Amino acid sequence: MLAGGTRIVVVMVGLPARGKTYISYKVSRYLVWLGVNCRVFNVGEYRRTIVGAQLDHSFFDPHNQVATDQRLNCAMVALNDVFRWFEAIHNGVAIYDATNSTRSRRKMILDECQKHNIEVMFCESWCDDNDLIDLNIREVKRTSPDYKGVQDVQRVMDDFHNRIDHYSEVYEPVGGDGTRPLAKGKYQLPPTNPTLEEYDERMVSYVRKINVGAKIIINRITSYLESRIIYFMMNIHIATRSVFFSRHGESMYNLDQRLGGDPHLSPNGRKYAEALPGLVSKLLGDQPLTIWTSTLKRTAETAAGLPYKKMQWKALDELDAGLCDGLTYEDVQDRYPDEYAMRDENKFEFRYRGGESYRDVVLRLEPVIMELERQQNIMIISHQAVLRCIYAYFLDIKLEELPYLKIPLHTVMKLTWTAYGCDVQTYKIDIDAVDTHRAKPKAAVKRAMSAAKSVSGLASETPSRSLSSKPSAVGLGQQTCGSAPVQSLETTAIMNL
Ligand code: ATP
Ligand code: F6P
Repeated sequence: MLAGGTRIVVVMVGLPARGKTYISYKVSRYLVWLGVNCRVFNVGEYRRTIVGAQLDHSFFDPHNQVATDQRLNCAMVALNDVFRWFEAIHNGVAIYDATNSTRSRRKMILDECQKHNIEVMFCESWCDDNDLIDLNIREVKRTSPDYKGVQDVQRVMDDFHNRIDHYSEVYEPVGGDGTRPLAKGKYQLPPTNPTLEEYDERMVSYVRKINVGAKIIINRITSYLESRIIYFMMNIHIATRSVFFSRHGESMYNLDQRLGGDPHLSPNGRKYAEALPGLVSKLLGDQPLTIWTSTLKRTAETAAGLPYKKMQWKALDELDAGLCDGLTYEDVQDRYPDEYAMRDENKFEFRYRGGESYRDVVLRLEPVIMELERQQNIMIISHQAVLRCIYAYFLDIKLEELPYLKIPLHTVMKLTWTAYGCDVQTYKIDIDAVDTHRAKPKAAVKRAMSAAKSVSGLASETPSRSLSSKPSAVGLGQQTCGSAPVQSLETTAIMNL
């Protein structure tokens, strides 16, 4: 997906409480899931570490020169971390999350990125829906470390509104008001270091998302990846809703531990299908729901009794095991011992002969994810490998851990959105089913761990999955990417031992 050497900084722009961090983490989760290196650099986290968390609104007053210098320093430390990150990973997308509310700040960022040969796309979230902003402050900002220990909600509301007022005083929307005529023939910025007067944002790449996407303005987008990011941003919304997942009921192939095929449900699988409508109606009440299934019999049979609109997706069909379709793991080990061993070494990348890898499944699921982002309540009835991929997207699981996730039969998972991520609740229906989970063999775990240790100290290809992460902070004296691969493999090991 990412052309070699592509390096983009998505520079967030917007007043406080406009969803910049929310958008940043959503975009990052999407790109990482697709295999793109991506990391969020949140300047607020740098500020909390460098200057402090509990600063009242006067710290954000543009007339407070000492604080203004400190804020610029935090912004520079974060930006330098962006450059160091690119030095280590070579290509990818850094999301630089701050208010970046003035032209001069944005010009400075553009100049610095040009020096490092990095593309810039500004992404502004503009919103004048006061009720929504109040809700954002009450639900998200009140629980931020900035207000730790403050019980008085009104005090938080007042202080945060004062903070917004300080930023509003100097705020300049991206692109300007568009009234100043372009000088004839001046359709491009000077190649290096335009003056502030020459810096006309109609010449730069930007997207403005207005009132949560009621209107979107796109300017001078040239690269494929930028257009993918924008398309994703156009599809995300903030309405409250739930996504439910379930594997099909136990199938006849599950009973024999066979891979793939298009079998019917087993007797216990049918019992699960009968019990499912009761659980779903308990979880959902009388809210509307749409059911998505694969095109295979076992998911359609599982969904049969659910009294909701249904839709079949070919993209939700189980991972294609190619030559191994219909075999058991033992058969595969006997007939194709080399491939069996290769799969254990790198299950995410392993592609069955004539079939698919987990990476292939992720890529074919991309339109499903995009549609899920657009929709309201959805229940997906699909298969073990496919649901692992979808679960990994929402729960921000590293790709190498994804193929070993436990998605048991006869269990419904319900996803609920939190400020910057998702929580999952699981509901098991008490009807017996076989266990189809096969753990990573210990020998393969050990080999992977020692390989990872031998490269520790190098930068990680994948970012930290923590959404409340501290600044990456090379500049803050903390180690950044280097330890990530070791951590992830240890997690894999713990999951499977
Ligand atoms: P700050 O500058 O103070 O860090 P922020 O702009 O990063 O604030 P967030 O922390 O991301 O704001 O705010 C999260 C809240 O914003 C969530 O409750 C989310 O529902 C809401 N939100 C998400 N997208 C938008 C949007 N486009 N406009 C307004 N609010 C949004
Ligand atoms: O609430 C605004 C905020 O997110 C602060 O937490 C953070 O210090 C600041 O924005 C970073 O943006 P800027 O560098 O523009 O002040």
